[in-house]
Amino acid sequence: MGELEGKKHVQYIVSVEKKKDSFEALVIEHLRLNGAYWGLTTLDLLNEIEAVKPDEIVQWIMQCQDIGSGGFGGNVGHDPHLLYTLSAVQVLALLNRLDVLDIDKVSDYVAGLQNEDGSFSGDMWGEVDTRFSYIAICCLSLLGQLSKINVESAVNYIVSCKNLDGGFGSIPGGESHAGQIFCCVGTLAITGSLHHVDRDLLGWWLCERQCKDGGLNGRPEKLADVCYSWWVLSSLVMIDRVHWIDKEKLTRFILNCQDKENGGISDRPDNAVDVYHTYFGVAGLSLLEYPGIKPIDPAYALPVDVVNRIFFSK
Ligand code: FPP
Ligand code: ZN
Repeated sequence: MGELEGKKHVQYIVSVEKKKDSFEALVIEHLRLNGAYWGLTTLDLLNEIEAVKPDEIVQWIMQCQDIGSGGFGGNVGHDPHLLYTLSAVQVLALLNRLDVLDIDKVSDYVAGLQNEDGSFSGDMWGEVDTRFSYIAICCLSLLGQLSKINVESAVNYIVSCKNLDGGFGSIPGGESHAGQIFCCVGTLAITGSLHHVDRDLLGWWLCERQCKDGGLNGRPEKLADVCYSWWVLSSLVMIDRVHWIDKEKLTRFILNCQDKENGGISDRPDNAVDVYHTYFGVAGLSLLEYPGIKPIDPAYALPVDVVNRIFFSK
């Protein structure tokens, strides 16, 4: 089995950050704040966060904030959305710079997106999805502001999205999908409500995601994809069933998706690399306890030392 090319992945992340006018940068421009979270968390997991200048990043993040609402857009001048607001909070947490935030303003924006039934909309246009429940609750928990929402109705809404197969969908009755399962299990973990999960039933559904090639898929009949190493594995860790999959085969699958020459990880072997799959590949290896990678928290999707700093060293 090949080894993790950690140094090459660091070079790849740093080069994408610098090439702001490259094709790849253009394609992901509208979600640059998400890209910053994926890239910087990868660097930190590989113990190389010093490869970037924190002051420049913090300054740019604060320019992405919409002054009126308090939410963050994907880039300077873009409309605010929960998706980017969580990335902003996560990156500032990673850089130990949450002090630059007006916590009340940001948390009021997030809390204001809760609906009567406990669900969350992603922005002022109203689309509802369990991804937004997770994002809101993760964000408010990191900011110490969960008391601004109705946690009980938020949890009840997540429970209403549970299916007979033990999984969760994006809305009530929506098909089980590993990405949504991460969001729902993560929400339940953060709010101390994991008793709502049938661990054996969901664990079975999740470990059935392992394909012959060792990789994990997101739903039955789909091809394995490196990013599901995160969505599936983090959920299995949270419900204490990670020993139900073949860890060695999955490790080999992820390592086979590396570009060993230029760095980066792709969705499946021999495809083009991107920052998203590089992050989720490294984060998956972290959950697999691959040597030399920092441990990651499966619910907050941040390195464990960052989460501990937030909750235990105030
Ligand atoms: C699959 O997406 C993944 C999801 C649906 C979950 C997305 C979760 C968030 C945005 C919450 C924030 C996440 C973290 C880690 C902090 P896809 O569109 O690639 O699915 P596909 O494989 O079906 O195309
Ligand atoms: Zn993917």
